Amino acid sequence: MSRVAFVNGKYCDFKKSKVHIEDRGYQFADGVYEVFTVFDNNLVDYNAHLQRLFRSLSELSIKTPIAKKAYLFHIQKIIKLNLINNGLVYLQVTRGVASRDFKYSDSIKSSITITGKIISDDTFNHSVFNGINVTTTKDLRWKRCDIKSLNLLPAVLAKQVAFNNGSKEAWLVGDDGFITEGSSSNAWILDKNNILRTTPKNSNILGGITRESLIRGLKTHGIKFKESKFNLIDIKNAKEAFITSATTFVTPVIKVNNIKIGNGKPGKFALVFLDIYKKSAIFSK
Ligand code: PDD
Repeated sequence: MSRVAFVNGKYCDFKKSKVHIEDRGYQFADGVYEVFTVFDNNLVDYNAHLQRLFRSLSELSIKTPIAKKAYLFHIQKIIKLNLINNGLVYLQVTRGVASRDFKYSDSIKSSITITGKIISDDTFNHSVFNGINVTTTKDLRWKRCDIKSLNLLPAVLAKQVAFNNGSKEAWLVGDDGFITEGSSSNAWILDKNNILRTTPKNSNILGGITRESLIRGLKTHGIKFKESKFNLIDIKNAKEAFITSATTFVTPVIKVNNIKIGNGKPGKFALVFLDIYKKSAIFSK
């Protein structure tokens, strides 16, 4: 069976699905998105992702194109039609179609597209059990990184720098020399004092849903944790490092630039944190 996409109220053949060339998402990146993970036939932290989508829409004054309660129906349908047991659902809302003009009218009808993708267990397990390399690069993004907007060009460039250096992720370095987050994930270290650290939630980072679930789990387990930024010196001295995101869960980092983390293999706590995360995240049909 071929893939199916949801485009502005209609289910259509993925290969033939189209949006208008004057969609503001296409011309101005004027829109927001969410990535929902499907794990063993369950949606992971669905409500938290939906809530963040509505926050992003509200911050940009974009109206929801469908009722809040209709999202789950369409997401589930995409999962079913695309036979996804493990994978992800990508959902995008843009301000809509209008003749190209920077300013916008409130009467534009917002656009929605939903696609689904199967991800094999092997792809996921490879990174989790072998760890990944990270390359640092300057954080060139805007001042509202807390909004999950389509404005992803700096992330695209950063990820490419990482890829060209044999890394799966880029860690973005702010003007103060501290890591803000990854190009598409949150960044963490277990520092030399055995304290888990990740950048505090502010407008310089996206408040990751995976980050939030892990923090909840860490608190339940009484694990020492601090929302505190870190720099390259802290990374050099770190015992472990990892990233969190909907698509990578908790994935160990074994090298940052030419700095080996620990002994250059996934640390012993990374899997413990993954386990804590999985117990804390909310799985639902
Ligand atoms: N990215 N920071 C950034 C910049 C991100 O793009 C993401 C997610 C995260 C982690 O957020 P969450 O835990 O809610 O997935 C942090 C998704 C996966 C993406 O753009 O594909």
